[in-house]
Amino acid sequence: MTQLVARACGPEAAQGSGFSDADGNPLSWVGDTLVDQDGRTAAVLRDGVVDFIRSENYSASFGYQWNKTRAVVARDGQMQRVHFAEMDLRTGFHERDLSGLRCLEIGAGLGDDTSYLLARGIGSVTAVDLSESIFRAARVIDDPRVRFVRADASRLPFPASSFDLVVCHRMMMHTPHPAATLARAARMVRPGGLLFAHSYHRSSYFLGSAKYKYRWLTTRLPRPLLWNTLRLAGPVLRWGTVRLTKQFGQKGADFAHRWSPWVIQGPHMTAGLDRRTMLARELQVSFDALTPRFDLPMYADDFVDLVEGLGFSIERLERRPWFPLWAVARKKEFADEHA
Ligand SMILES: C[S@@+](CC[C@H](N)C(=O)[O-])C[C@H]1O[C@@H](n2cnc3c(N)ncnc32)[C@H](O)[C@@H]1O
Repeated sequence: MTQLVARACGPEAAQGSGFSDADGNPLSWVGDTLVDQDGRTAAVLRDGVVDFIRSENYSASFGYQWNKTRAVVARDGQMQRVHFAEMDLRTGFHERDLSGLRCLEIGAGLGDDTSYLLARGIGSVTAVDLSESIFRAARVIDDPRVRFVRADASRLPFPASSFDLVVCHRMMMHTPHPAATLARAARMVRPGGLLFAHSYHRSSYFLGSAKYKYRWLTTRLPRPLLWNTLRLAGPVLRWGTVRLTKQFGQKGADFAHRWSPWVIQGPHMTAGLDRRTMLARELQVSFDALTPRFDLPMYADDFVDLVEGLGFSIERLERRPWFPLWAVARKKEFADEHA
């Protein structure tokens, strides 16, 4: 058993350290169970995942999509090439030495970014997600540097300042209180450490996108019905968008962006993918746009104020209106602690 814990959770967890309860007190392993100082169960080790979640929650749509998709970055060399290139652009991590860094990845999904961090030489990654996706991530990624944890970003079971790098990619707007979520993530960064934060952008370009017209319905539909409808209709919707764009140029593309529920990935995200993989990826991305309970984009100024207000200096920033927002920021040495 010690061996299994060591593989699934890394040596730190095997030694019983690295996890804390809501009060910051350490938790310790008793067999497959993490217990608090009063002997109460905080988490159990299940299928290679340290699982802190007991009940159904709002992230079930993510559990569905990540368990259903055929587009698995961790297993597909070409998908890795395009995803890693996009992540290099967003983070600039390919220009940094990540070896020896302890990283916390919050909202890991199926581990696309976990694979990226591993490929860029990260020392270790604690990959956290609230949904059942984390069980599949644990099946598709086999690397002793990763431990998989199912936990809620609003109740992270780690001591403050215990990571050198915290990655919060494409997740905070899917929580009920994005700013509070980022504040909790930021608390995990040690002074001098790095934060990668990302948010959907409350620009008129994004607010005009089709998903905001349909979400009132699609968040209520049975997930298998929506998944299968998109799967069947997707190739036709895609064909329609391509035709419109060929015929009317940017106007045609804008029309599709506003009305088509099928999200076409740009050429930089699909370069070299076979048609089946490309459609699988677009199916997952389209479902992802239409189903999360929360989708709360942020104004660029608010995003910048938030990151800086949490005690960080921004080193890299994207805030153009037709892109999502993202930032790489360094925690000031004497940054205040934020709850
Ligand atoms: C759009 S996916 C992004 C996954 C991954 N970061 C990526 O970019 O491929 C958002 C993920 O955040 C997770 N998530 C949402 N709320 C969360 C919370 N409170 N705590 C932890 N994870 C959460 C979802 O379950 C989902 O897997």
